[in-house]
Amino acid sequence: MEQRFVKESRTYKTSRIFPTDVNNHNTLFGGKLMAYIDDIASISASKHCRRSVVTASTDSVDFLSPIRPTDSVCLESFVTWTGKSSMEVFVKVITEDLKSGERTIAATSFLTFVAMDENKRPIQVPKVIPETEEERRLNQTATRRAEMRKARREESKEFSDHLITRFPWE
Ligand SMILES: CC(C)(COP(=O)(O)OP(=O)(O)OC[C@H]1O[C@@H](n2cnc3c(N)ncnc32)[C@H](O)[C@@H]1OP(=O)(O)O)[C@@H](O)C(=O)NCCC(=O)NCCS
Repeated sequence: MEQRFVKESRTYKTSRIFPTDVNNHNTLFGGKLMAYIDDIASISASKHCRRSVVTASTDSVDFLSPIRPTDSVCLESFVTWTGKSSMEVFVKVITEDLKSGERTIAATSFLTFVAMDENKRPIQVPKVIPETEEERRLNQTATRRAEMRKARREESKEFSDHLITRFPWE
């Protein structure tokens, strides 16, 4: 079984906050940050398996503190855990006040990606090997998150069977 270190999927992206990125509170628009998160997480997943990947789900995006136009925003992402064809990716969002240099964890997110073969079918991914204390902690707690995802997925499937696809004007 092929194996890859967590560090092989580690990816960083640092951006400024422009006037078109903010909401009416003059802080970074949540949807913009979510797009950044999905983007960087997909790169980590691709680096881990060197295959096409799709976002299967976003477990959580926790916005912990507002991101201001005077901050730089740095996203760090890496694969924390692997199933058979699925990979859990953790994204950490760190802001830096560009005047004081003070850094804050502004958001965290867990997402799941699935590796696809040429026929768009799920395919086995390499196992991931954590090395640092942070990587080990995230890896050890991943099984519990995977169980919660499985339960939620079953619930969503059952729920979607009862949803209507007809619009009110039809
Ligand atoms: C994700 C997807 C490929 C799963 O396909 P599927 O036929 O249900 O595949 P399986 O049931 O065999 O599951 C394959 C793996 O995906 C995982 N998975 C499937 N749905 C999941 C979900 N909602 N959340 C987390 N993991 C999920 C399974 O646990 C399994 O993991 P494992 O191989 O590590 O055990 C399929 O649902 C899909 O293509 N979804 C749309 C993806 C997409 O378009 N993303 C972009 C969003 S805009």
